[in-house]
Amino acid sequence: MFYLLAQNGGFLPTRGSIMLDFVFTAMFGIVLILAASIYLVRSTQKYDLHKWIQIISGAVLLLTVIAFEVDMRFFTDWKALAKPSPYFEGGIVHISLYIHLLFAVPTPFLWIYVIVTGLRKFPAPAAPNEHSASHKFWAWPAAIGMFMTAFTGWIFYYLAFVAVKP
Ligand code: HEM
Repeated sequence: MFYLLAQNGGFLPTRGSIMLDFVFTAMFGIVLILAASIYLVRSTQKYDLHKWIQIISGAVLLLTVIAFEVDMRFFTDWKALAKPSPYFEGGIVHISLYIHLLFAVPTPFLWIYVIVTGLRKFPAPAAPNEHSASHKFWAWPAAIGMFMTAFTGWIFYYLAFVAVKP
């Protein structure tokens, strides 16, 4: 296991590059912060704290996605890193990537919509009003989309960059 350590410049003992390792790890933080933010707004009515957590995590995610896309398109050949996986040749790695993209592509658009309408239609500091019903309708798919993006991303990372041939 340890011979793989830092092999591709990443910090996890896998075949992941530094950017893949970073996003894999950061998604744990994002999911925990999102769960805390939803708990805060539902159970403790900390509306403004919820607002700022969502704006900051949305901005951090946007920057991460841009850095990740630039890295994947111009610097890291993820297929070369995934090739030693027992799931690469049969196409399972690619299928898991497409399932991941099903969530990862629409979710940022949902987030932008929920944040922009929230900022425009809720008062400052944030509090429930006539926009609440619409916010709840769109915010849940946005939140579940982010959880599923993380979950399917971890599965893809495992199949592509962790699994080793027996
Ligand atoms: C992608 C970003 C966001 C997500 C995923 C999100 C998610 C949620 C969720 C799941 C709830 C609980 C809904 C329920 O009780 O069923 C909620 C409530 C609320 N959110 Fe957000 N939110 C986001 C951004 C924002 C922003 C930017 C603001 C303010 C500008 C905001 C203000 C509120 C308020 C005031 C409530 C309470 C609504 C009520 O109970 O009447 N949210 N949000």
